[in-house]
Amino acid sequence: MRLSGKLVVASHNQGKVREIAELLAPFGIEPVSAGTLGLPEPEETETTFAGNAELKARAAATAAGLPALADDSGLSVEALDGDPGIYSARWAGPAKDFGLAMEKIQALLAEKGAVEPAARRAWFTCALALAWPDGRMETFLGEVHGTLVWPPRGKNGFGYDPMFQADGMDLTFGEMEPAAKHAISHRAIAFAKLIAALK
Ligand code: IMP
Repeated sequence: MRLSGKLVVASHNQGKVREIAELLAPFGIEPVSAGTLGLPEPEETETTFAGNAELKARAAATAAGLPALADDSGLSVEALDGDPGIYSARWAGPAKDFGLAMEKIQALLAEKGAVEPAARRAWFTCALALAWPDGRMETFLGEVHGTLVWPPRGKNGFGYDPMFQADGMDLTFGEMEPAAKHAISHRAIAFAKLIAALK
């Protein structure tokens, strides 16, 4: 897969854009953010992580006439039929209150009597989609599986990190050092696949 020169990072989150820029710097890729180009943020109307990442990448590539990279991610809970899934950000409400979103998950699990770790399986997904203006598209998926603990533990990370304990770990993502989380996360796995495809 060939990629060089300008790449639109289809995110309006500056933190995300910076992180992606650092990861892609060794490949001679010059990231520009969708925000800088004044591109509109499309509505996420698809039903899967990959579908939403592809929708965002396609919209940015078409509008900018440049290759574009977009991501979509979230937490899926097995006992809740995959919820909150693609609605992970939306479950936190307009105030982006993830304490509340975690409590909602815990209440639904409690209703189902899900106490044992085996009944509390969950996974994070990251979909990365790379679209070209000519219609080509490559999508990379990363997943990390684990169990949901209660009460939440740790002040690192963001979102649902304090209640997620990855398989084989004693600490939640909220307790782990950022570098340790980044070494095993769904995002790391998806980016490793993208980078392998660029080599
Ligand atoms: P996105 O920015 O639309 O992909 O929203 C993803 C949402 O999923 C975030 O707001 C978080 O709530 C959740 N999420 C995704 N990745 C992680 C993670 O690594 N830790 C905790 N929460 C995450």
